[in-house]
Amino acid sequence: MVTDKLPKAVVYKNGILSFLDQTKLPLKVIYEEQKTCGQIYDSIKMLKVRGAPAIGIAGAYGLVVSVKKYINEPVDNFITELKKTGEYLNSSRPTAVNLSWAINRIIKKAENSICNSSEELWLELEKEADNIYNEDKEICVNIGKYGAELIYDNFGILTHCNAGALAVSELGTALAPIYTALNQGKNFRVYADETRPLLQGARLTSYELQQAGADITLLCDNMAAYAMSKGLIDMVIVGCDRVAANGDTANKIGTMNVAVLADYFKIPFYVACPSSTFDNMTLTGKDIMIEQRDSHEVTHFGGVQTAPDNVKVLNPAFDVTPNELITGFITEYGIIKPPYIINLENILHKGRK
Ligand code: MRU
Repeated sequence: MVTDKLPKAVVYKNGILSFLDQTKLPLKVIYEEQKTCGQIYDSIKMLKVRGAPAIGIAGAYGLVVSVKKYINEPVDNFITELKKTGEYLNSSRPTAVNLSWAINRIIKKAENSICNSSEELWLELEKEADNIYNEDKEICVNIGKYGAELIYDNFGILTHCNAGALAVSELGTALAPIYTALNQGKNFRVYADETRPLLQGARLTSYELQQAGADITLLCDNMAAYAMSKGLIDMVIVGCDRVAANGDTANKIGTMNVAVLADYFKIPFYVACPSSTFDNMTLTGKDIMIEQRDSHEVTHFGGVQTAPDNVKVLNPAFDVTPNELITGFITEYGIIKPPYIINLENILHKGRK
């Protein structure tokens, strides 16, 4: 199986939490143990661990590891500290809904628990973080299964940023259909946008697809129109960080450019995601908070300054693709087609059963 060769972003074993430091990939593969909430906050903020489902999983385990020091406190105090730590970790990155979703799930579990010792409660929360990981794994397998049905021999598939094994528990969202189709023996090409400014496409997507033995070609972001105009691309699959109730979708900056181009060239544009990324409390894309990052990420490249001192910079980490440019969502329940306002809500009800 090609998938046996994929890296894992978050590892929790025998009470020890480690993140694969993705800022060092592809040159160094280093797992860093995470011991305190300050360290976990920094790891998420600095993108050592990144990708919407992976930061949810990292947040859940991170919260559990961070509050272990309170297991000798009365349960009320333990829950107060749990909530404070959860709020702090949640403030590390604002756009991906998965982080607050996973942290709130751990807090809710604690609030609804009937345990009367903090030590026992902590073990319940550790189990809940394991559940989040294992459910995500299962979800990715199903996204892979449904998405692979859209992939045919000789296809060219373009992806943007990294929504692969490095961005989830295992396998990926946008890359799950690709890995599944490879396991099925299909023959096709994958193109990865490099994804400026932080190069998730170049450093991470091409790395993990290469590990899996895929036919992978790397492009600079501004080459997507060229590749489409030459007939190299038959479909686009991207991941996402938050989907509003009307289907507007936040994903890595540059995703909207690709969607506009795909529309022009009449190429199907799919978004792959777990249903937990659907946020029906956010009505449209205008209501999604977009993370703004340090200007240094734009003025420097590989540690070298590439722009004049004090130049003004825009550095939004995400953009929002309007729902009308999205052909469908590939989810663990199947492919969701428009009208999104109705069909996404139906999926959320399915998930709550
Ligand atoms: O800033 P990043 O690297 O966390 O951005 C990641 C993305 O935009 C991914 O496409 C998205 O989180 C989906 S990951 C399955």
